[in-house]
Amino acid sequence: MGKRIMEQIHPGHEIITAGRNGGDIKVDITSREAIEKMFKKVSSVDALVCTAASGVMDDFETLTAEALYNNMRGKFFGQAQLVLTGQHYLNDKGSFTLTSGIFADEPAKGVTGGGVVSGALHSFVLSAALELKRGLRVNVVSPGMVEDSAKDYGHLFPGLRAIPMTEITDAYLQCLNTNITGKILRVY
Ligand SMILES: NC(=O)c1ccc[n+]([C@@H]2O[C@H](COP(=O)([O-])OP(=O)(O)OC[C@H]3O[C@@H](n4cnc5c(N)ncnc54)[C@H](OP(=O)(O)O)[C@@H]3O)[C@@H](O)[C@H]2O)c1
Repeated sequence: MGKRIMEQIHPGHEIITAGRNGGDIKVDITSREAIEKMFKKVSSVDALVCTAASGVMDDFETLTAEALYNNMRGKFFGQAQLVLTGQHYLNDKGSFTLTSGIFADEPAKGVTGGGVVSGALHSFVLSAALELKRGLRVNVVSPGMVEDSAKDYGHLFPGLRAIPMTEITDAYLQCLNTNITGKILRVY
């Protein structure tokens, strides 16, 4: 999703990409130190968009609290830390756009962990929007199953609509280009 969103943002903006293996900057968002290092490296940033990390499928009968915690490390704690650290680095009136997912609100079998992560992200964004200073904004896009993923994962979630990528990128652009804050943009 990150690459597809980047293509849409690209005109008129300078983009710095980051990831564990690819991108301009190497960062593992499960590490607070790595996040701090990333922000120190890039100065004068107006917006951060995160589509990094995703949850794993789980089996409820053998699921443990430890497995739930591990599932939260990248997608929930990592994105939360990006905001907690990034609030000290982003330019005034800058924006954070995070990524959650449909399972926060629409349960499906095998994604208890994914639902918990996304639900936590929604609550985090509501609080963070109240707390942020200097006009900083934070929002979260909650996508349904993206059409690009439907061929690989569609069979696991029968009945789930495949969402055209343009609907998803429009939501990220709305977060970047308007003044909204504390919003959960559900795209499904
Ligand atoms: N695709 C869908 O249909 C769909 C639907 C609903 C929600 N979402 C959510 O949208 C987000 C993006 O989905 P996607 O399909 O684009 O996932 P993806 O193809 O798996 O891409 C995730 C990216 O995150 C990077 N990453 C993973 N762990 C990281 C970490 N700890 N630190 C830094 N980078 C990390 C990965 O690159 P490296 O491995 O190189 O680091 C990869 O480039 C996920 O949160 C996903 O749950 C997706």
